Amino acid sequence: MTEPLRLGIAGLGTVGAGVVKIVQRHADLLAARAGRPIAISAVSARSRDKDRGVDLSAYAWENNPAALAARDDVDVVVELMGGAEGDAKASVEAAIARGKDVVTANKAMLAHHGQALAEAAEAKGAVIRFEAAVAGGIPVVKALTEGLAGNRITRVMGVMNGTCNYILTRMESAGLTYDAVFAEAEKLGYLEADPTLDVGGIDAGHKLALLAAIAFGARVDFDAMEIEGIERVTTADIAQAADMGFKIKLLGVAQMTGRGLECRMSPCLVPDTSPLGQLENAMNMVVLEGDAVGQIVLRGAGAGEGPTASAVLADIVDIARGTRVSTFGQPATGLVKARAAKASAPTPYYVRMTLLDKPGALAKVAAKLGDQGISIDRMRQYGHEGANAPVLIVTHKTTRGALNEAIAAMAETGVLQSEPVAIRIEEV
Ligand code: NAP
Ligand code: HSE
Repeated sequence: MTEPLRLGIAGLGTVGAGVVKIVQRHADLLAARAGRPIAISAVSARSRDKDRGVDLSAYAWENNPAALAARDDVDVVVELMGGAEGDAKASVEAAIARGKDVVTANKAMLAHHGQALAEAAEAKGAVIRFEAAVAGGIPVVKALTEGLAGNRITRVMGVMNGTCNYILTRMESAGLTYDAVFAEAEKLGYLEADPTLDVGGIDAGHKLALLAAIAFGARVDFDAMEIEGIERVTTADIAQAADMGFKIKLLGVAQMTGRGLECRMSPCLVPDTSPLGQLENAMNMVVLEGDAVGQIVLRGAGAGEGPTASAVLADIVDIARGTRVSTFGQPATGLVKARAAKASAPTPYYVRMTLLDKPGALAKVAAKLGDQGISIDRMRQYGHEGANAPVLIVTHKTTRGALNEAIAAMAETGVLQSEPVAIRIEEV
């Protein structure tokens, strides 16, 4: 039997404990597939006394994750602590400094420091693998870097935050408000310690920034992304979108356009019959489009112990086999700084507004759309609420800039009873 691949695991929470369980449960299977045993030498977490539901007695313990990374009996550092900075980054840097490969699930760290870490790893002949960082159990990093290596990627889209998808689908199915479902998600333990990472679109934005780097050969540029969360989505938006044949999703879209790289994470309407429209609860879905392959759709659990640990093991087995793929699918020093598209490609928009119920009110707002060259595709007016008339308009393709101008001009008409809500309709 050849030498084992020896792991040092930093972080023994949901994902870390899940990885230990798989290494123990599937030792024979993993050894057969990797061609060598996969062994754990040492582990690290904050509290040594915590019961993690897994036997750690055979492994050395390190209080300091960077010391774990430096150990002579550790070949690969598996970073599963989280956080863009601090001990997570320090332990990864300690591993790279010693030429050791790294496996991580840490999208925040890679979205902010992925370029520098990948370059440092390359300089030392090491690799950083991060399948678990994007869409949990879905093997989308492998699909992009390996399965679709022969394609020019045209678009990457996806629902990559299970918590937001749970909130949106539950608001629809139970007719509950955003606040009520947020409280439910909190009780179920779905939310990150800082929930704005989920509902503010930041967590999903981190993931999309990583996929965009691979897909378009670009340096990871999280700061250039347009990000909007789901906090302003109402049950009325969801019900009215459904009435028009759409579902609202927190959707990430990355595409290279003539104006540069468009990369945004925002609530979007998608046809309710499309695979994205049918995605329920905390599931994730990533849609990849390539010039040769066309469109492929990957669906699965984006979080949780088993699915995330499954993705971590995929990277570990690859390293054990000797498969060496550059962090972002090509040498990091060759990645270019993509010009960020200043404006998104034109699409139809859903616009919800409440008008004063008096003659000519609708004509006034329609005129403001017309002034910006925006054509109305469909319009619906709902039952009056006192002196207010709820109105829904679906436009033909337009830019967000033109729509914003029209909405600003509508404010001067004196017929708006609330600020209009505009949501992009994505062609999927
Ligand atoms: P978690 O349950 O909070 O576990 C974090 C672990 O890291 C804990 O064992 C904690 O120790 C340890 N830790 C934190 N700071 C440390 C430090 N400074 N020194 C040593 N140990 C430290 O987190 P998780 O859900 O497993 O997530 C881990 C990583 O996976 C994160 O990057 C996360 O974004 C990513 N991820 C998670 C999921 C998921 O479904 N949970 C999915 C995809 C990606 P104690 O246990 O002693 O406190
Ligand atoms: N908070 C994330 C989600 C966890 O809800 O999808 C997985 O990254």
